[in-house]
Amino acid sequence: MSDRYAVIGNPIGHTKSPLIHSLFAQETGQDMSYEAIEGPVGSASGFSDSVKSFIAAGGRGMNVTAPFKLQAFEISDERSERAELSGAVNAMKFEDGRIIAENFDGVGLVRDIEVNLHQPMAGKRVLILGAGGAARGALLPFIAARPAKLVITNRHVDKARALVEQVAGSLTAGGSLTACGYADLEAMGRFDLVINATSASLTGQLPPVPPGVFSASAIAYELAYGKGLTPFLRLARNAGVQGIADGVGMLVEQAAEAFAWWRGVRPQTRALIERLTVPLD
Ligand code: ATR
Repeated sequence: MSDRYAVIGNPIGHTKSPLIHSLFAQETGQDMSYEAIEGPVGSASGFSDSVKSFIAAGGRGMNVTAPFKLQAFEISDERSERAELSGAVNAMKFEDGRIIAENFDGVGLVRDIEVNLHQPMAGKRVLILGAGGAARGALLPFIAARPAKLVITNRHVDKARALVEQVAGSLTAGGSLTACGYADLEAMGRFDLVINATSASLTGQLPPVPPGVFSASAIAYELAYGKGLTPFLRLARNAGVQGIADGVGMLVEQAAEAFAWWRGVRPQTRALIERLTVPLD
């Protein structure tokens, strides 16, 4: 029997993960299956029961999407440092009765920016909007990419400050990490890379970011995928930004990280990213 994998979420009808992983498996010649599971919401042990029954049925690993990333964190026996910091888990591996947990969202994002968009982050000025789960997931991989300046801004600035304090020890020499409110951004100068890691785009809203934050050759990156020209990307375009991107590359790259972690072989991503790209306008 093929090794079984799955993604669990609710709703799950929209997920691209089964397509992505079955194409990865085909390309790398791995004997595995990958399905989508709609996890139960509104019951205290529903998520955990679903995971356990998947394990009992021979499951080897799972991706986790909304709204279960925090519950996956809670039920795991072992977590990577980045999963620990983000407080959220997007991939699990089942080994010897243990649940081992990871969060590949941030590394997938960095890989998309550096490899696919050809924008090495070392020495650059980087701005992250938001201090929720998505921003937390990106933080350690961003620090590891050694930007010259990394600024995290959030409406509730205390949340951004707490996050900065939590990771201050991981900072490498020469880099600076700052938390601030949106109103302070005007005084911060321009940024080479601005990431919208807020959930504002999901409700069609624009974080209160001043258009002057973008440098002449900036990249504006929207983590949401398939939402077209969001208010944030529109702001960037109106500010003259040429490089605008949504999260399709991150989606495929985080999947490739999980696949490599599970199977020990790294799939190609470029053709798949092109296939899944939805034009921004
Ligand atoms: P996620 O897991 O998607 O990051 P989350 O943990 O609920 O979701 O975090 C949502 C983030 O989006 C937060 O940083 C939130 O800002 P606050 O902490 O100040 O609430 C941010 N956010 C949501 N809507 C926003 C908006 N309209 N403008 C700016 N930031 C917004």
